[in-house]
Amino acid sequence: MGVYDLIIKRRTIRKFKQEKIKKDILIDCLNAARLAPSAANLQPLEYILVTRALDKVFECTRWAGYLKNGKPKQHERPVAYIVIISNKEVSKDAKYDAGFAASNIILTALERGVASCVIGSIDRERLAKNLSIPKNYNIELVIALGYGKQKSVEEEFKGDVRYWLDEKGILHVPKKRLGDIVHEERFFR
Ligand SMILES: Cc1cc2nc3c(=O)[nH]c(=O)nc-3n(C[C@H](O)[C@H](O)[C@H](O)COP(=O)(O)O)c2cc1C
Repeated sequence: MGVYDLIIKRRTIRKFKQEKIKKDILIDCLNAARLAPSAANLQPLEYILVTRALDKVFECTRWAGYLKNGKPKQHERPVAYIVIISNKEVSKDAKYDAGFAASNIILTALERGVASCVIGSIDRERLAKNLSIPKNYNIELVIALGYGKQKSVEEEFKGDVRYWLDEKGILHVPKKRLGDIVHEERFFR
């Protein structure tokens, strides 16, 4: 599948099969992150791959703020995490770099059949302690990974950005229409 088709197909998944991801796939994801664009090519990002101490990451993450029961149950939790951290001494603001790296990770994973959820709502203090992350590093994002056990579909945006679950457990994610967010040549027509 080409990149555009992958992008169109990708939706955040928050329920996962308890099936391990081959190390090669995770290494591809990390290598794709390594080669992401970087402001001034400073490359402040580093990565912590977690496939064993999963609870240490899960207990620091918050899930699906718009749903009542959006948090994965014990048997639906991610089977791997990539924690994106940045060295503050290399760059004070690595947010754009982290976004590009995250995007490379989730698309590389999806191309290999692995679903993901980007997590920014993190108990950073606790996670730093759990993973022995030094003080001169910021925790940027956590990427939760696993084979998907949930269906999620794009929905027409009707004034409310909140995603919802239907009676079949399918997640519906409102997305704004292209015509409402694209300005041609200048802002006002
Ligand atoms: C920077 C960022 C932070 C996010 N943080 C969380 C989070 O903490 N918990 C969560 O469940 N989802 C999180 N998400 C996933 C978004 O909720 C999701 O991308 C959004 O609802 C749109 O759905 P889609 O990815 O299927 O298009 C985050 C996404 C981004 C880009």
